[in-house]
Amino acid sequence: MRAEPPLGSVGAPGKFITFEGGEGAGKSTQLRHLHERLAARGIETVATREPGGSPRAEILRDALLSGRASPLGPLGEAALFYAARIDHLDKLIKPTLARGAWVICDRFADSTRAYQGASGGVDQKSLALLERAALLGASPDLTIILDVPPREGLERASRRRSAGEAADRFEREELAFHEGLRQAFLAIAANEPARCCVVNATLPESEVAQAIWDIVEARLLPPECAYLAESAAQ
Ligand code: TYD
Repeated sequence: MRAEPPLGSVGAPGKFITFEGGEGAGKSTQLRHLHERLAARGIETVATREPGGSPRAEILRDALLSGRASPLGPLGEAALFYAARIDHLDKLIKPTLARGAWVICDRFADSTRAYQGASGGVDQKSLALLERAALLGASPDLTIILDVPPREGLERASRRRSAGEAADRFEREELAFHEGLRQAFLAIAANEPARCCVVNATLPESEVAQAIWDIVEARLLPPECAYLAESAAQ
């Protein structure tokens, strides 16, 4: 049986940061910036993503994003996202945090709440049950929600795709689905302000990166650490 960690955190020395948001919000770019800044502070960090992040979860990612799993319906898909997440947590996230390194993850459980829940129509009770059974109380220390109007995000996502590459199963949804997603992420942030921070992702890339760094410093880096790093830089 998987042991139950303390509620509200993964109960480990490392910090767990997740990035969330709709399509084309710039999560992967910002995750890379944060990775570099943490490395510059001497913090060992593993960058990962969902769905995926472990070999078995990557197989499920393929089934989910290709649309091959969509006949299962939104609840079936949610269960698959959670199957992938259980393996990712057990094989990568928890062991990394346990040895004191940090984990930054492109999407996590809030994406299931938003995509399969608020926008996909799975009732919140079923999702909460899946979440409770799979996460056993584990949760990110910090979640950055990158907020961008859906029309702008979808345009960015389509520019990013190389010519000929098809949109994935979720990018193909109607604009109303994406409007619903945005509202879902904003509602999650409003309900859990101790964990979540919303960042305006329409700002220039460097400004978004700085806003994220300011949040990480304020929330997760102890002041003496910031002081030492400043002294080292002089
Ligand atoms: P990805 O190519 O990683 O795109 P993005 O840059 O938007 O993160 O695709 C992940 C897709 O899977 C994305 O459309 C959101 C969707 N998704 C869910 O529907 N539920 C989930 O729980 C997760 C983690 C992702």
